[in-house]
Formats: sequence, structure tokens, C-alpha cells
Amino acid sequence: MGGRLQGKVAIVTGSATGIGRAGSILFANEGAKVVVADRNDSAGEETADLIRNAGGDAVFVHTDVSKSEQVQNMVATALKKYDKVDVLVNGAGILIRTQSRLADISDMEWDLSLNTNLRGVFYGCKYTIPHMLERGGSIVNISSVAGIGPTPMAASYGVSKAGVINLTLTAAREYAENRIRANAIVPGLVDTPQARGSTGSTERFDQRAAEVALGRAGQPEDIANLMLFLASDESSFITGGAYVIDGGGTVSSWADLRRES
Ligand SMILES: NC(=O)c1ccc[n+]([C@@H]2O[C@H](COP(=O)([O-])OP(=O)(O)OC[C@H]3O[C@@H](n4cnc5c(N)ncnc54)[C@H](O)[C@@H]3O)[C@@H](O)[C@H]2O)c1
Repeated sequence: MGGRLQGKVAIVTGSATGIGRAGSILFANEGAKVVVADRNDSAGEETADLIRNAGGDAVFVHTDVSKSEQVQNMVATALKKYDKVDVLVNGAGILIRTQSRLADISDMEWDLSLNTNLRGVFYGCKYTIPHMLERGGSIVNISSVAGIGPTPMAASYGVSKAGVINLTLTAAREYAENRIRANAIVPGLVDTPQARGSTGSTERFDQRAAEVALGRAGQPEDIANLMLFLASDESSFITGGAYVIDGGGTVSSWADLRRES
């Protein structure tokens, strides 16, 4: 075990699976006490068990991030168990790909996307920041490359992730005086249940991975490494950033466009 987060308490939402789980495990390996927050109880408990079985300290709390009272309960649980919160990772998210163009998106899809991906980040910040005001802290929000470009057939997702970046920049500016840093991670294709589910088939997923400049999809651990850096004091001069981590996925699509034009 390392000690890059020694003595820190971290809340990680969306940590039952994928990127959030990898981040939670890495945080615990680096000495953090971790609040595993997710709406998926069985997989969330499993993440906390994995941490405890490896000698770390973690508690699972059932949390639907789109529900104000559940996010308040998440923060209260962290304070009750560990007395403070130093790090908040807002990682919970859903990708609904209904293959609908803008005019055909249902109110239900729009609300579900925005309520989970953007309102959930807002609630995480809203209820955690008051407990960081005195001591400072680090907020890491998970956006997506979908938030920095058009997202055909998944507009509600792209809009929600663009909103996450703007919210992050605003939080960074407003709370810098309290030594609360806020940064966004902007992943490209990462091999998780969400990404595999959204691509529809293994063949399509592999094809998309091969189109990435570095020739592969990211692993959850790739994102967790950046998450750790932004959570730790090693990044103490970094706030208000949005960091693309996509194996060169966005540069390869721009280059391909130029070749075609
Ligand atoms: N995998 C990718 O290619 C990719 C790319 C860019 C961004 N992202 C973002 O990374 C984050 C993690 O996604 P992932 O790929 O690990 O997917 P994932 O499906 O493995 O993990 C998402 C987690 O969020 C949880 N969740 C969903 N809705 C929730 C809610 N309302 N309340 C609480 N928890 C909820 C799920 O139960 C799950 O554990 C998401 O915000 C996603 O949008 C993923």
C-alpha cells in the first residue's frame, strides 16, 4: 500500500462498478478511507468488501445521486463514520443511447440523463462543499469527451457531460478562496459495463477501440490513476481544469476528418 492519500476521507459516487470501483480501490490502497456510494447495493457492497479484504477502510452507503435526501444521507454517513470529507469524486453516470435524434428524445430520457449525470454532480457538490469550507478539499467530477463535442443519438448524455465541465469550472472559481479545488476528468472510450452496453456488441466495441490513436480502449485503472493525482496533494496547484484522457481518441478523429476533407 502507498500513502498518497494517507489520512484522507474520500466519497466516490458510482463506485459499484467500472471507473468508480477502480478509483475507490486505488484510493484505499493509497491510504484513504473510502465511502462507496452507489444505487447498486450488491456491487457496491462488493467494492467495499474488496477494499476491506485487502486491509483498507471502506463503508458502502446506498445512494441514488439524483435524490437530494439520499445524497445528504451519503454525506452524513461519511461524517458520522470518518468525521470529515477531504475528497469527493462524482462518478455516477448513465449513458442512454436510444438512437433518437434531438426532436425524438422523450422527456423521460432527457430527465433521467440530466437528473443522474448533472443534478447528481450538483447535489454531490452542494452537500459536501459546506464540510470542506474550513479545511479545503478536492472535487473530481467525471465528464466525458461527449461533453466537448457533438453527440449524435445521445444528446442528453452530451449535454449533461458538458454541464459537468461548466459546473466544475464554476466550483473551482467560487471556492478557491476556501482551498477547495475542483477538476473534471474527460474520458474517452473506457472498457466498463457502461461502454460495452452502449456500443451494443463486442465487435462494435473492439472496432471503436481500434480507432483510438493508441489502439485500445482505456481501462478503468487508467482513469483511476488521474483521479488519484487530482485527489491528492500532488495536484495542489491545479484547479478549474478539464483533463481529456482518451488514448488520443479525439485527436485521431480530428486527424481523420482533415484527411477526408
Ligand atoms: N466507460 C466509458 O467509456 C466512459 C467514457 C466517458 C465517461 N464515462 C463516465 O464515467 C463514469 C463511470 O462510468 P463507467 O464507465 O465506469 O460505467 P459503469 O456503468 O460501470 O459505472 C457507473 C456507476 O454509476 C452508478 N449509477 C448510475 N446511476 C446512478 C444513480 N442515479 N445513483 C447512484 N449511482 C448510479 C451505476 O450503478 C454504476 O455503478 C460515468 O459518469 C460515465 O458517464 C465513461
